[in-house]
Amino acid sequence: MSRLVVVSNRVAVPGESRAGGLAVGLLAALKERGGLWFGWSGKVTREPSGSLYEQTDGDIRFVTMDLDRKDHDDYYNGFANRTLWPLLHFRLDLVDYDRGKREGYRRVNALFAEKLAPLLRDSDTVWIHDYHLIPLASMLRERGIGCKIGFFLHVPMPSADLVQALPEHLRLMSSLYAYDLVGFQTQRDVERFQAYVRLFGEGKVIGDGELQAPDGHRFRAGAFPIGIDTGLIAQQAREAVNKPAVRDLRKSLEPRQLAIGVDRLDYSKGLPERFHGFERYLQRHPKQKGLLTYLQIAPVSRGEVSEYKLLRNELEQIAGHINGNHAQPDWTPLRYVNKNFAHATLTGFYRMARLGLVTPLRDGMNLVAKEFVAAQDGSDPGVLVLSILAGAADEMKEALIVNPHDLDGVADAIATASGMPLSERVERWRALMDQLQENDIGAWRRRYLQALEAA
Ligand code: F6P
Repeated sequence: MSRLVVVSNRVAVPGESRAGGLAVGLLAALKERGGLWFGWSGKVTREPSGSLYEQTDGDIRFVTMDLDRKDHDDYYNGFANRTLWPLLHFRLDLVDYDRGKREGYRRVNALFAEKLAPLLRDSDTVWIHDYHLIPLASMLRERGIGCKIGFFLHVPMPSADLVQALPEHLRLMSSLYAYDLVGFQTQRDVERFQAYVRLFGEGKVIGDGELQAPDGHRFRAGAFPIGIDTGLIAQQAREAVNKPAVRDLRKSLEPRQLAIGVDRLDYSKGLPERFHGFERYLQRHPKQKGLLTYLQIAPVSRGEVSEYKLLRNELEQIAGHINGNHAQPDWTPLRYVNKNFAHATLTGFYRMARLGLVTPLRDGMNLVAKEFVAAQDGSDPGVLVLSILAGAADEMKEALIVNPHDLDGVADAIATASGMPLSERVERWRALMDQLQENDIGAWRRRYLQALEAA
């Protein structure tokens, strides 16, 4: 078996218990097979970018690289998170395009290529992740790297017309042609990519999943919906019920039900709409008032980016308004917490919740939806309320599926979930859990890598 080399912007280095969904997933994938994980160290330094650090944990070797302030601003805060992120989440209105930032993004990708290339062997299989690193394979190829290189986009692939609005879209998008396999979360993402290649990408779609670049060389695209480490999450959740933070939460709620949302503080997650939907629930279902407390955990994310700062202010206002209007001396309907929690503690919170609220306006997959289900107690499970606009909705049909823009619909789904009889909750949970067990993170890694190695 070839050595696996994973490359991503964010790396879950040993001891990092608060990694996001992507890093948690990749760590689980690498634990099974071992290999090298290369990415940003998470540090912004005064020294010029490029210092490397190395550590090993079991079969995984981690190599990470520092970035200096300018590189971090141009590449991460700039082009990745103020240009690509909104574009990929269908938010053309929020796209900020700047040639300097675009060149910073290319400069940092070139630095990744320069530092990574000497670490690679001809027999390696290289798997590059997410929108931060789209041009990396083409830059590795320029340095003579000939091994199999795959790419996986964790976020949505937008419609071709939206991508066309990005200045120099072809330069960026055609760099995907240097991969042997381009993976997406859902079949619709694949279809939107194929439409782009055909309409604006100067390439051809030979057959479903087989594409041809303008120079005639062929590569593949496919859907590989990411899963979670289902068994591990279930076990963590069972064990977490005795953690002090979980016990304290349970005690503070009694006798009320808990509705929980856990999202990075990001405009793609639909948090203002969710808060309004919760208020609509209080208004439309007055008899249920006081039955349920909604806990929204929203750790600050990309806090240096202006759109994220504005969102934080907006959410504080809405939360204050909801509690001001609806709270009673002994009950606060909405608990809004910007703090981050260890992943294992969150699974304990999920397990005690009657409802999981996952209502993004756009999401590649959304692993919180999957983790919420895996963490439940099968004899008394909670109900998942899930946005139709999350990739997870394609697989998780037994959730209560809502459109996050339809506040009445969200409100009624909360009421339905809160009053759902045990037998229906168990039936829905069982079907969701079977699916999560079959398509777990190991299955995702195996399917993707088999397809890459065969490409
Ligand atoms: O899953 C999408 C994603 O952007 C990942 O690439 C990223 O690691 C995660 O969300 C968290 O975002 P960030 O790394 O910017 O904190």
